[in-house]
Amino acid sequence: MSHQPRDTSALFTAQPQVVAHRGFSGTSPENTLAAFTAASDAGHWIELDVTLCKTGEVIVIHDDTVDRTTNGTGEVADLTWAELQMLDAGSWFGAEFAGEPVPRLEQVFAAVPKSMFILVELKTDDDKASLPKAVAAAIQRAGRDEQVMVISFDPFMLEQLRLAAPSLLRGQLVGDYVDSDLVWYEKSGRQNLVMTDRVQQDAVLWQHDILTSSIVQAMTELGYPVFAWTVNRPADIQRMKALGIQGVISNHPDRIR
Ligand code: G3P
Ligand code: CA
Repeated sequence: MSHQPRDTSALFTAQPQVVAHRGFSGTSPENTLAAFTAASDAGHWIELDVTLCKTGEVIVIHDDTVDRTTNGTGEVADLTWAELQMLDAGSWFGAEFAGEPVPRLEQVFAAVPKSMFILVELKTDDDKASLPKAVAAAIQRAGRDEQVMVISFDPFMLEQLRLAAPSLLRGQLVGDYVDSDLVWYEKSGRQNLVMTDRVQQDAVLWQHDILTSSIVQAMTELGYPVFAWTVNRPADIQRMKALGIQGVISNHPDRIR
């Protein structure tokens, strides 16, 4: 890595910064306004996932389909915003969340105070350019340029983000992909490895169980802030804290003290 990441030491000051994964997803349905409000009310930063729907809006959802987290079925890319708006993204998690909608990224920006930094993860995008461009535009329209870092497993999408909006912070996700049954992850994993010496990002976000003190030391020497995901078990949280990294991403941010 010869690239010099930008200095984020004034931003990532907590040791570690606590980030609520998909919002406060341990206690609320992931990637919903309920989960984001619960996180920001508790003072936590937020991680969320985005993809494009058929009509081009930036939708906040983890999977390629709506099947697991809503009462609907089908690929997000095949559904219009009008169709997605009708779905219930809360009932699968608990009756008290019935009717919780699937949000657009701009709705999250409107609901969450600017003081809460947001990690926006780029998910599926066949041409690798449409989603980064749409996300960059949404961030800039909301005036959130300084309060967001765009992250992805896919360095090609992050490069498109850089071309669309060079000033936005970018973070490279790194995982082992061994347990993933998602073809996209496996493919991105290979690209990720191939691109390692060409990473042009400002932070590196590691799957926690492959993160070691020697990796942290190497990253730190290169000037990269280090984040770990997704850290839920108390023993893993303690190990990450002992590594002295800049951020810990968890479904249970309340466990990180
Ligand atoms: O923040 C990184 C983490 O969210 C990546 O994995 O599958 O939960 O999006 P995933
Ligand atoms: Ca994610």
